[in-house]
Amino acid sequence: MTSSSAVGRLHGKCAIVTGAASGIGEATARLFADEGATVLAVDRPASPILTVFAQAARIVPFARDVTDHEAPAEIVAAARRAGGGLDILFNNAGVSERSLVEAHTDEAWDRQFEVNVRAAFRLCREAVPALRERAAATGRARIVNTASVMAERTDLGLAGYVASKHAVAGLSKTLALELGKWGITVNYLLPGAIQTGMTRAAFEDPAIREVWARKAALRRLGTPMDMARAVLLLASDEADFITGHGLVADGGLTLRT
Ligand SMILES: NC(=O)c1ccc[n+]([C@@H]2O[C@H](COP(=O)([O-])OP(=O)(O)OC[C@H]3O[C@@H](n4cnc5c(N)ncnc54)[C@H](O)[C@@H]3O)[C@@H](O)[C@H]2O)c1
Repeated sequence: MTSSSAVGRLHGKCAIVTGAASGIGEATARLFADEGATVLAVDRPASPILTVFAQAARIVPFARDVTDHEAPAEIVAAARRAGGGLDILFNNAGVSERSLVEAHTDEAWDRQFEVNVRAAFRLCREAVPALRERAAATGRARIVNTASVMAERTDLGLAGYVASKHAVAGLSKTLALELGKWGITVNYLLPGAIQTGMTRAAFEDPAIREVWARKAALRRLGTPMDMARAVLLLASDEADFITGHGLVADGGLTLRT
């Protein structure tokens, strides 16, 4: 819980966080729980999801690949069991593969779309009835999807990833339009260069780390907690009138043309 508030900003709420064993998802699961939420923390069975939160209060780990056919129904049912309902869905699990278009395989393209878009879409669809129930009772519910600055820009070798993140933005805006009447907001996060599992290999090289840090107005890479705080803004009650919005959280990385 943040030091100034007696009651956490997510007190009594239940949240699903996918991709929670590492990076942005792990930090967000911890921050949500610190702010009083019960968190269903979802990640692949091969990930450390069952051990990473061993000492954490209010975090229920759930080992499931989000692309499994039955995953959405099982995840939403588990969240209802853990928290008595569902207030917040944070679709964050993601993968990226880098190769120029001529070498970009069907498998790489499909994998990125399956995890980054299709699984997120299917989990949103499954969660809507539970979110509607909670919004009817409390006045609000939330979906936050992790896109990327690559939802608006591009880079060499990222055709599949960039296309998938543009799709996350389109999905989020359409959901926002459809779900607004129920009091459900849908927003998406556009992280810049963040030090996580996904970028570990690249940023272990001090030269690469330095280049990306220098590109940002704030002259540093982002941390998972920087992203978790941005997600908390969108998930909190204070964001009641913000929907369909893409929140750029990149330290000024994309300011310059
Ligand atoms: N790190 C960055 O610079 C950056 C920038 C922009 C966007 N993002 C996005 O942030 C999100 C989180 O990534 P991160 O940077 O924290 O990386 P990360 O690799 O540390 O975490 C991603 C997590 O997603 C999980 N995951 C992958 N496929 C899954 C599946 N099929 N089922 C369940 N879980 C699965 C992984 O096991 C991993 O724990 C991703 O959507 C990524 O595209 C990251």
